Amino acid sequence: MLPPNYRIRLMGSSDFEEIRDICKLVYPTETAYTCEELEEHHRVFPQGQFVALDSSQGAVAGVHFTLRLRMIDFHLDDPWDVLTARGTFSDHNPVTGHTLYGADIMVHPAHQHHGIAHALTDITRGLVQEEGLWRMVGASRLPGYGKRCASMGAEQYVAAVQRGELVDPVLTAHLRDGWTVVRPIHGYLSHDDESGGWAAVIQWVNPACPPPPEFELR
Ligand SMILES: CC(C)(COP(=O)(O)OP(=O)(O)OC[C@H]1O[C@@H](n2cnc3c(N)ncnc32)[C@H](O)[C@@H]1OP(=O)(O)O)[C@@H](O)C(=O)NCCC(=O)NCCS
Repeated sequence: MLPPNYRIRLMGSSDFEEIRDICKLVYPTETAYTCEELEEHHRVFPQGQFVALDSSQGAVAGVHFTLRLRMIDFHLDDPWDVLTARGTFSDHNPVTGHTLYGADIMVHPAHQHHGIAHALTDITRGLVQEEGLWRMVGASRLPGYGKRCASMGAEQYVAAVQRGELVDPVLTAHLRDGWTVVRPIHGYLSHDDESGGWAAVIQWVNPACPPPPEFELR
């Protein structure tokens, strides 16, 4: 899946500055992670923080940050700040967190369209299977929606992307990577004008693992 000059490993402190640089490039309107926040992610759940490396240049090409959540403690509409405890990951629950929450996936623009996000998603799916988790959940930005929001609703837009009639730079990649849409939500990120303030909750359910007891009757 990955081109031969790339490999994936767990994040280490030597990656932090490069991750901050990628963050500034792909989310110019957001505040980049601080090294302290990245250190904290690493401290609470080291096996859930993945880095893709371009081994020919020794450079970080992309990342996927995850934590385990007990989803019954949250609501489907909750924004990123709530789900990640304001980016600290202090709500990571290693015992009854049956859902792996994909807090962020980003690929340096110079390395996009090489299958890096796909490979980062596959390795994360492997973690869900290894840890015997129920599913992984995330929220896809919809950067193609902002310029269409005057003419169509977010539900309509997401359905058109699912049918392949429209291409969204982020949601289309997630759908190709095996995620399915749960539903669009508003207000997931505070400064995402490109997405018209919307996102789509997405999930991948582990066929080998039943839902935890608290979800059985839902
Ligand atoms: C969304 C994002 C993570 C996707 O990363 P990516 O590494 O480019 O994604 P992939 O390469 O796996 O898939 C994207 C495309 O590359 C294609 N592709 C996959 N393998 C490929 C390969 N070996 N060679 C060329 N293209 C390839 C895929 O088919 C897909 O198709 P597309 O050209 O129609 O888009 C990236 O665009 C990004 O960082 N965006 C900004 C941050 C962001 O919004 N993150 C999402 C938060 S929800």
